[in-house]
Amino acid sequence: MAKTPSISFTNLAVPIKGAVVVLMPQGAKLPADVDKIDDSGRIARALKVAQFTGKHLTSVNIISPNEKLERLIILGCGDIAAADEHALMKIGGKIKAICAKVQQVTVLAYGDDKKKISGENFAFIAMGAKLRSYDFDDYKTKTKKPSKTTKIIFASKVSTAARKKWKELDGIADGVNVARDLVNQPPNKLGAVEFAREAQKLSKLGVKVEVLGEKEMKALKMDALLGVNQGSVRPPRLVVMKWNGAVNTKAQPIAFVGKGVVFDTGGISIKPAGGMEDMKGDMGGAAAVTGLMHALASRKAKANVIGIIGLVENMPDGNAQRPGDIVKSMSGQTIEIINTDAEGRLVLADALWYCQKKYKPKFMINLATLTGAVLVALGNHHAGLFSNNDELADNISTAGIDTAEKVWRLPLGPEYDKLIDSKNADMKNTGGRYAGSITAAQFLQRFVNDVPWAHLDVAGTAMGSPKHEYNQSWGSGFGVRLLNQLVANKYE
Ligand code: BES
Ligand code: MN
Ligand code: ZN
Repeated sequence: MAKTPSISFTNLAVPIKGAVVVLMPQGAKLPADVDKIDDSGRIARALKVAQFTGKHLTSVNIISPNEKLERLIILGCGDIAAADEHALMKIGGKIKAICAKVQQVTVLAYGDDKKKISGENFAFIAMGAKLRSYDFDDYKTKTKKPSKTTKIIFASKVSTAARKKWKELDGIADGVNVARDLVNQPPNKLGAVEFAREAQKLSKLGVKVEVLGEKEMKALKMDALLGVNQGSVRPPRLVVMKWNGAVNTKAQPIAFVGKGVVFDTGGISIKPAGGMEDMKGDMGGAAAVTGLMHALASRKAKANVIGIIGLVENMPDGNAQRPGDIVKSMSGQTIEIINTDAEGRLVLADALWYCQKKYKPKFMINLATLTGAVLVALGNHHAGLFSNNDELADNISTAGIDTAEKVWRLPLGPEYDKLIDSKNADMKNTGGRYAGSITAAQFLQRFVNDVPWAHLDVAGTAMGSPKHEYNQSWGSGFGVRLLNQLVANKYE
């Protein structure tokens, strides 16, 4: 995985190396010892000339104000007391962006009592810097960035509090980067077997990882999932990750289920060539579940959590599934395949059924890059949320606001469910031209019974979403911070 800089917290000290970034809340005065870095008064003058007020993300970049420093940056934090997680992380991202080529960066937090940056806020700023630093360059042999930041020191009077919060946020950021990395990997390097191997690495954090192969899945009668992989020369996997962090390790768990199509050609209903390479990211749901388990285990979340990912490859082949085929899912319900490109729901049908039968969870939330239609509805800015339970849906929406990983609820209902009735089997795997994201969700709902359940369609948010201050990666890691927050808010 891409290397990120080392991040540490110390007490306030005058720095002497690399770049110094001074965080200035809106309306705060330039601290005297910063002013002294250049005793000719030029720093104060530069701020005046630039009409710097401390507005969020505005900056004044002074090259070599002093022979020991490469640059001094004054960075505005806006109204720091009112800043949310998103605003704070953006500050961190901006620090990393401005100092991209400087090896060592020291960030100074000042501010008077009213405009003080708290230790907790400082840690969120550090998380933004860490997430911005993720760069997928595993396969660049020629244009690797020559010099990069290797060390960021956060200096303040609140380093003890900052360090404490950082212990938690560091692992969450790692979880996001794990998810990004899985999504970014090329499909020849990351098949189901390799993905399962990556998931197994979570055992180092105390997660119990169990991997089911084709034989085991066959024995469980998961023919909906297996049918999708039928055209692939590579075997499928089902991975179960268990984190038992609750005081009562026997307490009923909560569960997260991910679609892990390592590559989606569409199968016999083959997709057009243009942009098909992006279908390496069709395991974004599974990547988010894996990253989430990483985050929860590394911060030792006090909850019992199950993560299940269904890993397959959807290929055209002489042995591939056909439109017209009828498969029997693990639930016993039969499915007529109308379009082999509607494969994600087939994988989830068996994964969701297995999850509820085997683990009897308090709720199940699945994540899937399920439909192009969700991009038509919501673009890249919200994930589609579907649920049979208002309380669960509200809790996810709240976590979305907290983390700026936003979701938007869309409806379910019998009028939509009817659209997937089949004349030849219990249901069909597509619902016609309209409401494609909803009919896909209706399909999933037929495999959840009365378990409180939510489905997040992350086709627009897990990959290719707009880059911003703390995400420059194609695979965004969407869902890790969102669901970590949900667990923290409601289930520990
Ligand atoms: N993996 C795709 C959905 C997708 C599209 C994800 C674009 C990310 C970006 C999914 O398997 C799919 O092909 N869905 C079809 C369903 C249709 C055949 C009913 C779709 O959305 O066109
Ligand atoms: Mn598809
Ligand atoms: Zn797909």
